[in-house]
Amino acid sequence: MIKAFEKPIYVTRPFLPPLEEFCNGLKEIWDNHWLTNNGPILQRFCRQLSNYFETDNVCLFNNGTLALQIGLEGMGIAGEVITTPFTFVATTHSLFWNKIRPVFVDIEPDYYTLDPEKVEAAITPWTTAILPVHVFGHPCNVNVLADIARRHNLKLIYDAAHAFGVRVGNRSLAHFGDMSMFSFHATKLYHSLEGGMLTFQDSGLKSILDYLKNFGFKNEVEVVMPGTNAKMNEMQALMGSMILGYLDGLIEKRRKITEIYRERLNDISGIKLPPRLPADVKYNHAYMTIEIHEKEFGMSRDILYEELRKYNIHTRRYFYPLICDFPCYRSISVKDPLTVARLVASTILNLPIYYDLQLEDVHRICNIIIELSSKESNRQNTKLKAKV
Ligand SMILES: Cc1ncc(COP(=O)(O)O)c(C=O)c1O
Repeated sequence: MIKAFEKPIYVTRPFLPPLEEFCNGLKEIWDNHWLTNNGPILQRFCRQLSNYFETDNVCLFNNGTLALQIGLEGMGIAGEVITTPFTFVATTHSLFWNKIRPVFVDIEPDYYTLDPEKVEAAITPWTTAILPVHVFGHPCNVNVLADIARRHNLKLIYDAAHAFGVRVGNRSLAHFGDMSMFSFHATKLYHSLEGGMLTFQDSGLKSILDYLKNFGFKNEVEVVMPGTNAKMNEMQALMGSMILGYLDGLIEKRRKITEIYRERLNDISGIKLPPRLPADVKYNHAYMTIEIHEKEFGMSRDILYEELRKYNIHTRRYFYPLICDFPCYRSISVKDPLTVARLVASTILNLPIYYDLQLEDVHRICNIIIELSSKESNRQNTKLKAKV
């Protein structure tokens, strides 16, 4: 029997730059004595991100949720918005806070992104936008969704919270759709402690978003709209700016971890991995998901989740339950049977993946999963023989 890990292995662990480097950065904040309100570090960070994403249309926020909420408001989205139930609750909450009705449609079974075929069927005269999610950093079917949005005169706003660094056909995902929101939350592959960013095509939106995140102030004496407070501060900008320099290394380490999981778990009966992404996608390896199919695996996803905890391995069931099943959204009528989303929500398991996860520990996690599955199938066989 394989021993449990002494220290807990969580599904993620934030990357931190060397303390000395961060302390040097802090000196700049102390020298400036400027902590928030569009400080010099934030301005520099914004320029770095503009270069990285190859667009001037970048706006920074104190978290991704408020970024999305304000983005929807800034674009004047109302009525109904077609979206996915297989995401983090903040996607739907941002609609709710704008008094928009979410219309949940199903996902496709390989990468769990919004199924464009179902989107078209859900459009009504009240639909104003589509809000798909590049879930786990898997790019949505961007071309088909753009075509649907264009034909029906709908806005296309991506929740790209998981998609920092992902490129399709050598273009950042920030260049698809009318607007994209990226989260820099500490649990993400790339972070600024907490933080969020909008990228958008219409440069006219820039000033509106700037007003909305800063109480609606245009200048010292003019408030031009009822904005809120969603500004990123200097500490966040410092952390984000520093981690940008480490990004390639962070993605490369995660790629190595993913390869081990893929190699070790691919042929295990009852485990399904997402297929490899098309060659023109540069993936960020933000998440490592597997599906556990009870009949073939010999154990349900939930039992495996519990068993792994006994080994001090803390996986997560992202995204379960579906958003439409949370009590606060249960009253919304859902026409789509959500067949795929329901199956995926009941089988998905997110395995640990983070920069300082040791490769030998990834092998150990795989050994434990394999041992659990074979122990269970031996138990089943013995039961079967006893019956015969
Ligand atoms: C898909 C998705 N959307 C939105 C958010 C909200 O981002 P934040 O935590 O930065 O507010 C998150 C995660 O945190 C997310 O995973």
